[in-house]
Amino acid sequence: MPTFEFDQPLCWAHRGFSAKYPENTLAAFQAALDAGAEGIELDVTLTRDGQLVVIHDETLERTTSGTGSVSALDLAELRTLDAGIWFGPEFAGQRLPLLTEVLDMVGGKMLVNIEIKPEAAHVPAEVPVERQVLDLIRERGLLDSVLVSSFDYMILIRLRGLDEDLRLGLLVTGEEENIDFRALVQAIDAFSFHIRAAELIPDVVDLLHEDGVRVFCWTESYDDEALAMAQILEMGADGFFANDVDAFLTRCAEALA
Ligand code: G3P
Ligand code: MG
Repeated sequence: MPTFEFDQPLCWAHRGFSAKYPENTLAAFQAALDAGAEGIELDVTLTRDGQLVVIHDETLERTTSGTGSVSALDLAELRTLDAGIWFGPEFAGQRLPLLTEVLDMVGGKMLVNIEIKPEAAHVPAEVPVERQVLDLIRERGLLDSVLVSSFDYMILIRLRGLDEDLRLGLLVTGEEENIDFRALVQAIDAFSFHIRAAELIPDVVDLLHEDGVRVFCWTESYDDEALAMAQILEMGADGFFANDVDAFLTRCAEALA
């Protein structure tokens, strides 16, 4: 079982093994486990009836057979949608996973980075999204293998107020203005700082490492992923959210050889 006490770059499967499987589906997470990734990253938001569902976009069009906002439908309606066929006919029948299903599948076998989408904080729910996520992690005894991140740092601040030990990752695009990221990381007592590969500079890695904070990167475009992997490893980043899991694992293995 991989741990957060690692000394080689971590391979996080970004939305699962999303280069070869439909993102954020059980098929993509299983493939990441089979490929040997140390962890998965997934995106979570709330349905209209307040359930934790795994999907990246605020709307359904790109990755499902549905239309409109995720938060406009109840879980039962969302579960009728196909979340695989857009990627390929062989993936027909994949459903939007519940967070519980993903944790049941890989929890305790891999590290899991749960990214809470900012819109989840705006869905009126009996139990707020951060409370639900924390309760699930605790119930399953996964505090040592889960990292929670968000672009909405208020979500992270609330989580820190709820649990002093939970690992938190501050997620930024790198394009934000007038924010002192180092101070924010310290205020949140974040485990890690997550930034787009194109925005990473060596000084940032050095300063955060001085503070004992890990640095993880990702890239949005598959086309520049190989270059991004090389650059962030050169700068000393601690891991990568890889769409192409095999490519990153191969690169890491070559670097060790
Ligand atoms: O968590 C890293 C990365 O997934 C953040 O961006 O838009 O892909 O969720 P996004
Ligand atoms: Mg994400």
